[in-house]
Amino acid sequence: MTIPLPEGIDPRVLVAVAEQVAVEAGRLIVDERPPDLGVAETKSSATDVVTVMDQRSQDLLLTRLAELRPQDGFAGEERGGRAGSSGITWVVDPIDGTVNYLYGIPAYAVSVAAVVGDPSTAGAWRPVAGAVVNPVTGERFTATLGGGARRAVRDGDARTLRVTDTELGLALCGTGFGYDAERRRWQGEVLAGLLPRVRDIRRLGSAALDLCRVADGSLDVYYERGLNPWDMAAGWLVAAEAGALVTDLDGGHPTDTMTLAGGPAVHRALGSVLGEVVAHVGREIDR
Ligand code: IPD
Repeated sequence: MTIPLPEGIDPRVLVAVAEQVAVEAGRLIVDERPPDLGVAETKSSATDVVTVMDQRSQDLLLTRLAELRPQDGFAGEERGGRAGSSGITWVVDPIDGTVNYLYGIPAYAVSVAAVVGDPSTAGAWRPVAGAVVNPVTGERFTATLGGGARRAVRDGDARTLRVTDTELGLALCGTGFGYDAERRRWQGEVLAGLLPRVRDIRRLGSAALDLCRVADGSLDVYYERGLNPWDMAAGWLVAAEAGALVTDLDGGHPTDTMTLAGGPAVHRALGSVLGEVVAHVGREIDR
């Protein structure tokens, strides 16, 4: 489905806004992260702190985007959304990689995307500008529809990104697992079928960064079942603008059923192996 860009919208303006607010939210979650979070008395109290930081980061994004782009809609992982009138909706993940954030592993990000269409309906939306910012390493991945993908470290010069495209047996493959036990069992069975067919697997813990890693060639390919629009929106565009195909298992838009990203040849090869493995394991799970 092709969803047109609303008239008068310039993705270069949107990406500058995305990067700016993602940097601001990244500063908040790093500066205000309690230093002993990972060793908090109980894991449930630590998780509550993460939830509070997630909500604070999202509130900052909502407020700043309302100031900078008052006509646009807003949808995020946490509580609070806003309908807009411009045809653009901001889809944000205030902390992607929350478990890494909890443990102090520097692989988490703020993900901010401007999308067209309806992000609450699978396959009915697409990103047109996006930024994924890792506030610990200072990496900033940005992309605009038709304008390419870039990586900068802090305010340094940006480098244009290009995917690798290797044969599957030599491919370093990223993936991730959801939170639900039933889904994790399915994901484990699929992984067991795939592992002998690739160079190796990485589970880095942030889907947004995984997609950006495909874009910069530090992963060759990536797949995951169960992603939400906020996990994938900005990273999808970064990977696609670096030359990746980003689809579901049937070649359509990525959805929560499957997100598969890689250079054209490795994407095709992984898609075909995943198709076989999924047919063997069974496509259906409750969630
Ligand atoms: C999660 C991360 C993780 C992926 C999960 C996501 P969150 O997002 O992106 O890498 O495997 O599917 O839910 O919860 O940290 O925002």
